[in-house]
Amino acid sequence: MVLLTGKGGVGKTTTAAGTAVLAGERGLRTLVLSTDAAHSLSDAFGVSAGGSADGHTPVAERVWIQQVDAQRRFEDSWASIQDYLRAVLDAAGTDPITAEEITVLPGAEEVLALLALRDEVVSGAWDLVVVDCAPTAETLRLLALPEALGWYLDRLATSGSRVVRAVTPALARAAGVPVPEPRVGEAVQRLHADLREVRTLLAAPTSSVRLVLTPESVVVAEARRALTTLSLYGYTVDGVVANRVFPDSDDDKWRRTWAEAQRETLADVEASFAPLPVWRAEYAPREPVGAAALAELARAAYGESDPVAVVDAPPPMDVVRRGAEVELRLALPFATGGEVGLTRHGGDLVVTVGSYRRVLALPSMLTRYAVTGAHLDAGHLAVRFAPPPETRATP
Ligand SMILES: Nc1ncnc2c1ncn2[C@@H]1O[C@H](COP(=O)(O)OP(=O)(O)OP(=O)(O)O)[C@@H](O)[C@H]1O
Ligand SMILES: [Mg+2]
Repeated sequence: MVLLTGKGGVGKTTTAAGTAVLAGERGLRTLVLSTDAAHSLSDAFGVSAGGSADGHTPVAERVWIQQVDAQRRFEDSWASIQDYLRAVLDAAGTDPITAEEITVLPGAEEVLALLALRDEVVSGAWDLVVVDCAPTAETLRLLALPEALGWYLDRLATSGSRVVRAVTPALARAAGVPVPEPRVGEAVQRLHADLREVRTLLAAPTSSVRLVLTPESVVVAEARRALTTLSLYGYTVDGVVANRVFPDSDDDKWRRTWAEAQRETLADVEASFAPLPVWRAEYAPREPVGAAALAELARAAYGESDPVAVVDAPPPMDVVRRGAEVELRLALPFATGGEVGLTRHGGDLVVTVGSYRRVLALPSMLTRYAVTGAHLDAGHLAVRFAPPPETRATP
């Protein structure tokens, strides 16, 4: 699986489509799927969406596109959970409009896109699935969702069953609190399992994220933050696509100045994102629409590198011994001391970077160890653990 993300309008759809056509040329059955509600994939290929009953539209040799059809499947599982939440809030005297807002699930559409993606990946029908993601912020929310929502559902599932055990239906009725029906618990459990599977697929070594940017400082700054956050969540980023690079020109001052500014920004991108490859796509003289134009742009960008190979990347998390102590190393490129937070909650380590937060379950070996310190070191958060006193005494 290859996911493409980046700031709005930088060329995510164009790059996703071009990468897919190159994969098709290499003999891979390829699906391009969009998690974005704005469906521009069919526009990029210059076809009309719709296609066959399964929603797959052929666009090139061995390449199909799919636009996720929001609503449908999601209704089943969430409808019953939402009904229950609404009934609880209602019993608690919450005004119905507020209740409606609270129970409109955050990111319902995104969850649907993730489940559709999972279905396609596990179907076995594809050698490669290319994902044309929404702009960075939404994509980060999307990729944080499987874990965050899983955590939330965990608690909902356990507290729900505790309520059922502790409160008899008669008592619950007297207190005005609705007892969840068994199907609510089942729906929670099913969604939880689904999301766990999505997370496993996305974090697998066969999946990678590519950052698309244009050589402008504002865009590059967002790409850097995206790399930090993606690393926080344990996703592999295997390359950067610099799109809309102006060709060298001596023509007029306006173009020369732009080309010069881009050259400087690109040098900075190369240096700061190293060792990630930076593939450059030129600003084409016209919109690259249609499979041939998309492939031409992508071919020039990837050059000698294999567009479908996930470039080797170091593991996002690592445990190293330092004498009696153990160091947990989490890749957090570009993170600065002021924005990183760290809290220990029993067997969990809560790491925050700016407004992003991850609850990391510690490896079982470390759950009895005490945190003795942490620092940022060469793009990593290093957290040191000391063994409990009794084990320290025994040789
Ligand atoms: N290298 C290029 N040269 C010329 N035009 C380009 C290039 N890359 C993309 N474009 C054009 O720029 C526009 C935006 O590209 P694209 O739709 O791929 O961006 P996006 O990142 O997917 O945007 P969004 O954030 O809206 O999804 C399109 O009209 C596309 O054809
Ligand atoms: Mg797009």
